[in-house]
Amino acid sequence: MTPKTTLYMVVCFLQLCIVKGQTICERQIIAEWRVEPKHVVMEWTLRRNICTDFYSECWNVNKNITKEDKNLSVPQICPVQLQLGDSLFISSEPSFQSYGMNLINVSKEEFINCPKTIFLEEQQIFVCQVRGLHKVDPTWLSVGTHYFAELHKRGPHLCNMGLRLNVTVKQQLCQETPNAPLCSKHGRCLSHVWEKQYSCHCFSQYSGKFCQNFNVCSTKPCHNDASCIEKSEGTRNSYECACPPEFSGKNCTEIVGQCQPHTCFNGNCSNVTPNTFLCECDKGFTGNVSIAYQRCYISVVYDSDMGINCLNLCLNMMQIISLT
Ligand SMILES: *[C@@H]1O[C@H](CO)[C@@H](O)[C@H](O)[C@H]1NC(C)=O
Ligand SMILES: *[C@@H]1O[C@H](CO)[C@@H](O)[C@H](O)[C@H]1NC(C)=O
Ligand SMILES: *[C@@H]1O[C@H](CO)[C@@H](O)[C@H](O)[C@H]1NC(C)=O
Ligand SMILES: *[C@@H]1O[C@H](CO)[C@@H](O)[C@H](O)[C@H]1NC(C)=O
Ligand SMILES: *[C@@H]1O[C@H](CO)[C@@H](O)[C@H](O)[C@H]1NC(C)=O
Ligand SMILES: *[C@@H]1O[C@H](CO)[C@@H](O)[C@H](O)[C@H]1NC(C)=O
Ligand SMILES: *[C@@H]1O[C@H](CO)[C@@H](O)[C@H](O)[C@H]1NC(C)=O
Repeated sequence: MTPKTTLYMVVCFLQLCIVKGQTICERQIIAEWRVEPKHVVMEWTLRRNICTDFYSECWNVNKNITKEDKNLSVPQICPVQLQLGDSLFISSEPSFQSYGMNLINVSKEEFINCPKTIFLEEQQIFVCQVRGLHKVDPTWLSVGTHYFAELHKRGPHLCNMGLRLNVTVKQQLCQETPNAPLCSKHGRCLSHVWEKQYSCHCFSQYSGKFCQNFNVCSTKPCHNDASCIEKSEGTRNSYECACPPEFSGKNCTEIVGQCQPHTCFNGNCSNVTPNTFLCECDKGFTGNVSIAYQRCYISVVYDSDMGINCLNLCLNMMQIISLT
């Protein structure tokens, strides 16, 4: 069999079994960094895993093709995303082995338009033609997007049909120092399909590039409706409370003024500074300290019928009493 008839047979065979762009690639839109590297095997075949429509098939995302993206919709092997350190293996379909496939590293433009017939030795991914299973050398898999295409001395027929691969390698930026836990154990190390790397997504009480900062304000240290402001001093986070005018102190718990008789009706009054004081209510009493006449004035009665401390009920009763 001459190479020409082999090519003819391959092309006929492919045209019979390929329905244009039928594959929807399996895809996680958001991936979490794996601690263990993985072996990924890509079969260099036209029989499956060939997608055409850039968003709906190759990336399995719900987005309409814009004019700019139009030339990205080319038949191709489902694009892969690897973690830095993963290994990539390429295998070829037995029917292609006698045809003789070369895998070459190409630019984005050559990926889209398929390379012309000439290629340089240094573009070759494997020194020999693809037969069986081959491991891609890590030098081809540095951080970034790489494009591999099939090229035969007779032309890029198979590339045009879809034997081209977009490989994106991502690293993680989730560790403050090489041995530190990912995201300081206070978040997840994630990458969206269009992001170029993995980065920290912190749990709600943490922030910072590595989720290294604890957000003190999430513990609500400021009382009496004061707003809380995060302040970073060195590596430790601290906070500041912006108190309403009638309150003061670190946590806005101190009341502006000085103790007078009956300032805290059923409780003890203590001066904290020359112009602030605190009320400490006796057992069974409470009251909103913002409102002068309520301080330790509301009794908390345990309602055995309802099984609750009937603060609101007592408030209502007080209102009824004060109205009568
Ligand atoms: C895509 O376009 C179609 C029709 O033009 C429209 O109905 C649909 O909502 C669009 N989808 C998105 C995700 O923009
Ligand atoms: C692969 O090809 C691209 C574009 O021609 C080039 O920029 C890149 O350096 C090549 N990669 C390697 C590892 O030689
Ligand atoms: C894609 O198409 C646009 C306009 O249609 C063109 O400007 C651009 O150069 C094309 N990109 C490639 C990589 O061929
Ligand atoms: C290759 O994949 C990356 C995502 O990993 C994407 O941003 C890029 O547009 C793709 N390139 C082409 C030419 O399809
Ligand atoms: C303010 O609140 C914090 C935590 O809620 C507490 O540890 C601290 O002792 C309080 N400071 C004062 C002056 O009340
Ligand atoms: C108030 O002060 C008195 C006398 O010092 C003390 O016996 C009592 O326990 C105090 N009450 C509170 C609620 O601290
Ligand atoms: C105390 O009263 C003030 C003023 O009416 C109000 O803004 C605040 O929400 C009240 N606080 C509580 C804990 O009920």
